[in-house]
Amino acid sequence: MKKIVVMASGNGSNFENIFLNFKDKADVTLISDCPKAFVIERAKRLKAKFIVLDYRAYSTKREYNDKLLDTLISFEPDLIVLAGYMRLLPSITVKKFEKRIINIHPSLLPAFKGKNAIKKAFDYGVKITGVTVHYVNEEMDAGQIIEQVPLKIEENMTFKDLESAIHRIEHTLYSNVISKLIGG
Ligand code: GRF
Repeated sequence: MKKIVVMASGNGSNFENIFLNFKDKADVTLISDCPKAFVIERAKRLKAKFIVLDYRAYSTKREYNDKLLDTLISFEPDLIVLAGYMRLLPSITVKKFEKRIINIHPSLLPAFKGKNAIKKAFDYGVKITGVTVHYVNEEMDAGQIIEQVPLKIEENMTFKDLESAIHRIEHTLYSNVISKLIGG
């Protein structure tokens, strides 16, 4: 059975969707850096395996990243899936799992990198935005693009409409990409 580690810091809708789509064909484990994140409530409800590595419990970034790397190595994951994980990975971790770490971002990269990308695109007034899945490198939202799905922003769309449409695309796209990468 293929092993997938999902890393998330927040709400966890992508984690939930991935867990439900892959739980019968892969070994899915959640790692969260944030003990209060809603994703942990989701993992408990879904009876998913999860580990909390509380970022604030470590005295330095280095110590946290070392612990995270050890934990990832111990899982021997086929794929590490970042789903709203809000930290950059250090280069030692990126190199160790080269081409085995992916991220999803709610814009057509390289436009609107970083936090609040859906809002940034909406406020900018672009007519087309979308979702990107890419390999992870040491920089934010910058690794090689694997897939993109565009979305036209219609005149009458509110921000909430756009946000919902983006999340629907994310859930389908991420599972499709994961299936291709783990071969299932
Ligand atoms: C998603 O919009 C994803 O693209 C971005 O963070 C958000 C996570 O959403 N990287 P959720 O926590 O999976 O609901």
